[in-house]
Amino acid sequence: MEKPKVVLGVSGGIAAYKACELLRRLTESGHDVRVVPTEASLHFVGAATWSALSGHPVSTEVWNDVHEVPHVRIGQHADLVVVAPATADLLARAAHGLADDLLTNTLLTARCPVVFAPAMHTEMWEHPATRENVATLRRRGAVVIEPAVGRLTGVDTGKGRLPDPGEIFEVCRRVLARGPVAPDLAGRHVVISAGGTREPLDPVRYLGNRSSGKQGYALARTAVARGARVTLVEANTGLPDPSGADIVRVGTATQLREAVLKAAADADVVVMAAAVADFRPAEYAAGKIKKKDGQEPAPIALVRNPDILAEVAGRRARPEQIVVGFAAETDNVLANGREKLRRKGCDLLVVNEVGERRTFGAEENEAVVLAADGGETTVPFGPKEALADTVWDLVSPRLA
Ligand code: C5P
Repeated sequence: MEKPKVVLGVSGGIAAYKACELLRRLTESGHDVRVVPTEASLHFVGAATWSALSGHPVSTEVWNDVHEVPHVRIGQHADLVVVAPATADLLARAAHGLADDLLTNTLLTARCPVVFAPAMHTEMWEHPATRENVATLRRRGAVVIEPAVGRLTGVDTGKGRLPDPGEIFEVCRRVLARGPVAPDLAGRHVVISAGGTREPLDPVRYLGNRSSGKQGYALARTAVARGARVTLVEANTGLPDPSGADIVRVGTATQLREAVLKAAADADVVVMAAAVADFRPAEYAAGKIKKKDGQEPAPIALVRNPDILAEVAGRRARPEQIVVGFAAETDNVLANGREKLRRKGCDLLVVNEVGERRTFGAEENEAVVLAADGGETTVPFGPKEALADTVWDLVSPRLA
């Protein structure tokens, strides 16, 4: 079998050194990779490194090997083009269709999926020019993954870091697996809640649940690969950040509600995959609750938490917004699911059967997705990413 052909574009940012690791991962997992650096990027990583690691000649401009017509051939034959790091300048040139070097020529001739992994200082990322260029590229079907937040060059910290090469590799793997189809969530903003809330009782104790957050993270990763801008509201998962998602960390149901409602204001889709505590302790003890000799502990009074899913579905920050809920049931799974779908007022409800060793914390899941319009989709036992892709398969036509 022929190896999938990947073009790795590298533009002139300090994060170019991280692209060496991305290249290694791509070649070691059986991809044939052509590296196309920009002239400026060679200040950071030299052509010899790219050539040795990829096993192919490297050129920055269209005037070498002209008889092979590289300015069209490389893009035409690619199964995937990934640009990492993509600087503000490269994004601008790509958005405007310039073709002043080999990489921009390649971007114009490529008919395969294109992934940009931007890296730059926060000010450049937030500049209206960059915002518009990114929006243009996304509208045209490119996957532009959100930069990570953290240490930048020099003393600065903020949004603009190139995500971990392993995470960019995962995005590439998913995009390649989908084949030469347009990313159906391109230009969409999706909000996903994941994990389980913890409701504090005193400074050291809380009421919690067994949710690991893995299903929510699988939804975030697959949505990024399908082109969405993703806001992931995570509660107590301890999982590594998926690349390309904006992460909002919360602890309690009250915090989760605030974060979800805020992010939902301009969202096309809201998916409530988090296990939100239905109750919280009525009172929070400022000091650790002590045991007293010869005395039984006092009962813990609980109060209800607001139902965030029902609130989001009832409010619909935008009339065409799609709202997806999850339901973990232990018995009468389908009947309870239908009744819950109606009660919560959401468009889709992913219903699964749970028990101590089923679903919570596991790598696999099986479920039935119920739709408010009567549809019912069975998802067989398999990886949580497969269930996530089924959810997006059902959401996507409803957005159109
Ligand atoms: O009612 P139940 O907890 O079974 O519903 C589960 C669904 O409702 C999940 O999508 C969960 O995220 C959401 N939920 C919520 N707010 C709550 C409880 C659950 O949004 N207080």
